[in-house]
Amino acid sequence: MTQDNSSQADAAGQNGGGDLFNTAAGWVLFAAGLGLGLSILSGKFFHGDKPERPEKLGYVIEGAVEETAGPAEMSIAEALNKVPQAELVAAGEKLFSKCKSCHTVNAGGANGSGPNLHGTMGKAVASHPGFAYSAELKAHGGSWDWDTMDAWLKNPKSYVPGTKMGFAGLPKVEERAAIAAYLNAQGSNVPLPAFTAAAPAEGAPAEGEAAAAAGAVADAEAGSDPKAAE
Ligand code: HEC
Repeated sequence: MTQDNSSQADAAGQNGGGDLFNTAAGWVLFAAGLGLGLSILSGKFFHGDKPERPEKLGYVIEGAVEETAGPAEMSIAEALNKVPQAELVAAGEKLFSKCKSCHTVNAGGANGSGPNLHGTMGKAVASHPGFAYSAELKAHGGSWDWDTMDAWLKNPKSYVPGTKMGFAGLPKVEERAAIAAYLNAQGSNVPLPAFTAAAPAEGAPAEGEAAAAAGAVADAEAGSDPKAAE
């Protein structure tokens, strides 16, 4: 590929640079920019030759690179509603192995280093009889619903600074939803949060931007090409 490029560049240097050179160089540069980044190649092939050309191409390719933002995490309401409850509860039961060293969940189960968690969903925070909660968790107030449980399981120490639950947290919302659904099936029955799927247009804005960018490329080429303006 590099050899092809330089032979085209040589040919263009001899005939002064025509439409063929512009078109071929544009495509080569576009492909190279996608894989390798633009700056090195544009400097190598265009420096001082046709100054207006790399400026425009560079602008277009930078715009294309900017479109790679990651999607936002889904809400726990969505995670709870997009998988059938039985599957979610089964997944939660497996994940609960991460909690078993400190918690039982059966009715009347013993407190360990953490309180028994039977019927915890829907119950007031820090209210299980016979467990010595930290002052911080006792002072927290409120009850365990989907949102509070989600925040707690994501990062207990940031949700309740000073808690003595020595667990780092579950970064994936799917895992938090599964454990919360499992807990909810152990002596609780809090109704699922409502969730309405958004219109199926998640990819649409990106496609629109791509189309606009393609339009901008066409405009730029038409604008810089004397033949196209005729
Ligand atoms: C290293 C031991 C440990 C592990 C592992 C652990 N916990 Fe805990 N958990 C605790 C302790 C200790 C408390 C009490 C915290 C306090 O009083 O500040 C607690 C409190 C809780 C509470 C609040 C209970 C209430 O009555 O208000 C919930 C809910 C809970 N844990 C869920 C879990 C889940 C789910 C997991 C697994 C993903 C887990 N914990 C893993 C030790 C642990």
